[in-house]
Amino acid sequence: MSRQGVTLIGLGPMGQAMVRALLAAGHPVTVWNRTPGKADGLVAEGAVRAATVADALAANELVVLSLTDYAAMYAVLEPAAAALDGRVVVNLSSDTPEQARAGAEWAARHGARYLTGGVQVPARLIGQPGSATFYSGPEDVFEAHRATLEVLTEADHRGADPGLSQVYYQALMTVFWTTMTAHLQAQALVGAHGVTAAEYLPYAVQAAETAAYFLPGIAKDVEAGRYPGDEGTLAMCAASAEHALHAARDAGLDTTVPAALAALFGRGVAEGHGAESFTSLVEVLRKPAA
Ligand SMILES: NC(=O)c1ccc[n+]([C@@H]2O[C@H](COP(=O)([O-])OP(=O)(O)OC[C@H]3O[C@@H](n4cnc5c(N)ncnc54)[C@H](OP(=O)(O)O)[C@@H]3O)[C@@H](O)[C@H]2O)c1
Repeated sequence: MSRQGVTLIGLGPMGQAMVRALLAAGHPVTVWNRTPGKADGLVAEGAVRAATVADALAANELVVLSLTDYAAMYAVLEPAAAALDGRVVVNLSSDTPEQARAGAEWAARHGARYLTGGVQVPARLIGQPGSATFYSGPEDVFEAHRATLEVLTEADHRGADPGLSQVYYQALMTVFWTTMTAHLQAQALVGAHGVTAAEYLPYAVQAAETAAYFLPGIAKDVEAGRYPGDEGTLAMCAASAEHALHAARDAGLDTTVPAALAALFGRGVAEGHGAESFTSLVEVLRKPAA
């Protein structure tokens, strides 16, 4: 059975991995990239280079975008927008839910059906079992192309609202970047006291597992809108956050991250949540800082 042809626009590390996964699964792939040289290796492996964006759009019904953001999508597709009519555009570029919704309206105005997506794994895991992507947009369009999209990663359709994939994706990115940065901050702290990264590693892993233990309780409090402080209060947590800040300062480290946390916890106490649980901070986070 001949496999569905795919056009892939955007050949950063992620786009290149996607092209390789599609070629490995037997899909004909047409590629285009602003910097043409990035296609050279892929062409040697069997991809077809489109000379123009319009040629790339004309080559296949299914067009996957792997660009830095939505500004890049407009920069690439606006000049060739007439060729979007009848295409199915799957935009796997990261951006805000609002940008995703506006992009879907823009694509519809040009006659394209449109899915958004947020890839949850690094490029090296594309095509590997256990990898996943959030999708959103019309379910029939998703189902029609699901088999091809699942060559890239497992596909998790979150709903018809085109913003939803980015809602889930940016939620995970918020956790990912804050968690990873916190681990770097911790490494800087232990390193300032002569503890090596390897010596600290088992405790870093333990900290990550401990976070998972707390998640159901956080979800329960947020869902209920009740934050009982019987196992520990926000006032205690605010004092703890101050200790982490002072430890960073005493070690001569950058204090951006611990200072932000201490300020946030302090705001929660100032707003009257001191006797409640740490989870009451969600009430503070739900509104912009004054
Ligand atoms: N890499 C990862 O591990 C990873 C993991 C999950 C999600 N993602 C997301 O997947 C997307 C692609 O990732 P990536 O690492 O491949 O990103 P990248 O290195 O930023 O490359 C993306 C592509 O965007 C193109 N581009 C950027 N601005 C452009 C513009 N103004 N006009 C035309 N083309 C433009 C680049 O073209 P040039 O080659 O000409 O610069 C390149 O082909 C991003 O949204 C990223 O957040 C990446």
